[in-house]
Amino acid sequence: MSALSDLSKEIATCKCCDLYKNATRAVPGEGSENSQIMFIGEGPGLNEDQQGRPFVGASGKFLDHLMASIGLNRGQVYIANVVKHRPPDNREPLPFEIAACKIWLDRQIELIKPRMIVTLGRHSMARFFPNKLISKIHGTAEIRDGVIYFAMYHPAAALHQGNLRAEIEKDMLKIPGLLAELDKETSAVNHPIQMSMF
Ligand code: URA
Repeated sequence: MSALSDLSKEIATCKCCDLYKNATRAVPGEGSENSQIMFIGEGPGLNEDQQGRPFVGASGKFLDHLMASIGLNRGQVYIANVVKHRPPDNREPLPFEIAACKIWLDRQIELIKPRMIVTLGRHSMARFFPNKLISKIHGTAEIRDGVIYFAMYHPAAALHQGNLRAEIEKDMLKIPGLLAELDKETSAVNHPIQMSMF
């Protein structure tokens, strides 16, 4: 058993806020413990709540397509959310729910030690880029302590506002170049990531 799967088991029993009361199950996250990239979304929706896996509905299909555009699949990344239980009726998570769930995301990041954190949507962005507007900072990155933080629109935004689709696809294509820049800066040769487009 890995530390990450032990952590997922702990998350499955979480009662830190009331979200668990209406949810079928927790959706801790999914992917490789050795992954260099973490995608962080908002919270589970209906499909995720039923299956216990992140991003398995329509926005997940688009996320798969986006990852494939840079030669990545789910096995090579880690996908998590800022809240681990589905908010009722797919409402947005409330600030105190995000705060209550913070310990889990912090521990996931600590275990995975990603080289890049990609925030998907406003709530995830707010955690790493406080007081910023997603319309202003999407597609931009900051390197802090050797980790790249990269803000993207939520994949669901493309489903609601078709004009954002091309923007989101364009932002995703920046990821390989950003990792290459980090490589240059840190001369890191450990676990070079395999990307077929790269
Ligand atoms: N939207 C999210 O933010 N996360 C999911 O897991 C699914 C949809």
